[in-house]
Amino acid sequence: MATAAREHWSSRTGFVLAAVGSAVGLGNMWRFSYLAAENGGAAFVVFYLLVTLCVGIPVLLAELVIGRGSQQSPIRALAHYGGAAWKPLGAVFVAAGFLILSYYGVIAGWTVRYALVGLVQGFPADVAESFGEVATGWDAFGFHVLFMGITIGVVAGGVKGGIERTSLVLMPTLFVIVVGLAFYAATLDGAGPGYNYYLSADFSKLFHWNVIKDAAGQAFFSLSLGMGAMLTFASYLSREEHLPASTLVIAGADVAVAFVAGLVVFPLIFALGLEESVGASTVGALFITLPQAFAEMGGVGRFVGLLFFAALVVGALTSAISLLEVVVASAMDGLGWSRHKAAWLAGGAITLLGAPSAWSTDVLGVIDQVANNLFLLGGGLALSLFVGWVMHDPIAEAADGTEGIRWFPIWRWLLRVVVPVFLVLVLWYAIPETWDAVAGLFS
Ligand code: TRP
Repeated sequence: MATAAREHWSSRTGFVLAAVGSAVGLGNMWRFSYLAAENGGAAFVVFYLLVTLCVGIPVLLAELVIGRGSQQSPIRALAHYGGAAWKPLGAVFVAAGFLILSYYGVIAGWTVRYALVGLVQGFPADVAESFGEVATGWDAFGFHVLFMGITIGVVAGGVKGGIERTSLVLMPTLFVIVVGLAFYAATLDGAGPGYNYYLSADFSKLFHWNVIKDAAGQAFFSLSLGMGAMLTFASYLSREEHLPASTLVIAGADVAVAFVAGLVVFPLIFALGLEESVGASTVGALFITLPQAFAEMGGVGRFVGLLFFAALVVGALTSAISLLEVVVASAMDGLGWSRHKAAWLAGGAITLLGAPSAWSTDVLGVIDQVANNLFLLGGGLALSLFVGWVMHDPIAEAADGTEGIRWFPIWRWLLRVVVPVFLVLVLWYAIPETWDAVAGLFS
């Protein structure tokens, strides 16, 4: 069995940074800001925090428990605790990995391109016009291929030599850049109105299903939940790991980076009077508005922009690694492939699958919706039911490595009742909407 030779993280820090690397990514800096802008600023932020606390954290701990306990990739891990009937859910997870990484790589490609533009020539004044060229066609596909090549290279390097080593260097770098940028943004003229827009709640929006659905989708996406990514990373952990502590550190770091990224983005936008373009927020807004801001800021802008996009590239890379690792680990465990073969074949297939997203941002947006609203929320629902009702004694499994935790029964109760009821309600709303979006592509 693959278990005997299974690789493990070399340290607790290595695991935590890799998991934080998975969580912190485009979701925190691109998706979070654009959803917050679209959904009334703080109203969205408040709801996102609530969902993370009551739904995200319980599901994250559930994934870690299954992964560490089974020491297997998702398909086998679910079968380990629930029998063969649960294998299809694992297959859905792998499919979600394919789907998400295919368009995630395209957006990551844009960030690589912008980072290079900042480095080599400075940001052009006419970003709005040139964005179409950056975002679609062979240009977009080329940078997607480049980004995927780096991702594949890291994953092929193994858990310790590739993933852990990369995270140990890149994650601290990302924290320093983002915090530094937030301090810089505080000195800008637009800081006041920017913070005001970001942090003053439009509570009239708080109880709209749309905001709730977006907050739920974002909480899952940002914490890398619902498709076995955290599960896979936890399968390289030893029994002694204190899972509740890791859960809180991972979730805390993820929320913190998203929040601080907002403190960077909104002052920048308001300093340059670009808030109009955010109001009409779409997938691409940040990639037009911010380079425009950097272009208008001259020499400083070029440097700040370079740092900003470098941070995005770093975040995207460590996240893409975890998406690919789900597929690679499954191919290794299930098909007996070597890590190299799995990484290059699966990674190559995913790269090709990104072509439709590279040629149309509409397709990209719809795949993003399908992945989040159906795969991740549906996967989270199935996982919570699995750990809440099917697994024999999840509390005992979670307690390994701890001295027993008082809130474990609350955790189980959340997974049994609160998380599933909430996710069913959200899906009830999200499924028809996603269906319309898909249909809209073909009409
Ligand atoms: N969490 C990452 C982000 O915020 C994206 C990501 C990585 C992800 N792995 C995932 C999303 C697994 C969903 C599932 O950018």
